[in-house]
Amino acid sequence: FIPNTGGGGGSGTPALTKAGDAITFEGWLGAHNVGDRELVQGLKGDATYLIVDDGKVVRDYGINAVCTHLGCVVPWNKAANKYLCPCHGSQYDQTGKVVRGPAPLSLALAHVTDDAGKVIFTPWTEQDFRTGLKPWWN
Ligand code: FES
Repeated sequence: FIPNTGGGGGSGTPALTKAGDAITFEGWLGAHNVGDRELVQGLKGDATYLIVDDGKVVRDYGINAVCTHLGCVVPWNKAANKYLCPCHGSQYDQTGKVVRGPAPLSLALAHVTDDAGKVIFTPWTEQDFRTGLKPWWN
């Protein structure tokens, strides 16, 4: 659970399908399986992965799909259990942490929160748990 610290709401952005429709947890989980990682529109319109984890829950963070090298959208490769960038071969693990360059940085994160059943992204401003560093994307 991520507390809404904004007081007035407003800091979150609804996750949208490619068609621009709002996404609900119920609808998403009804149509996806454990292990699925699918792109939706996230913060600033960036393509962002919503992930369905064991127990059939939406993971509490989304992974921005924009490669930190030159901005290609990075596909998930289930067999490799990694995100593999088709442009110049960068690789990211299942948390979006960069494990092979030329990408210099890990994929950006966004919190996933629940607003009356809707999937909402909010900015990730605290330490990046993958690197122990401040997020580079703020
Ligand atoms: Fe992804 Fe270059 S844009 S490796």
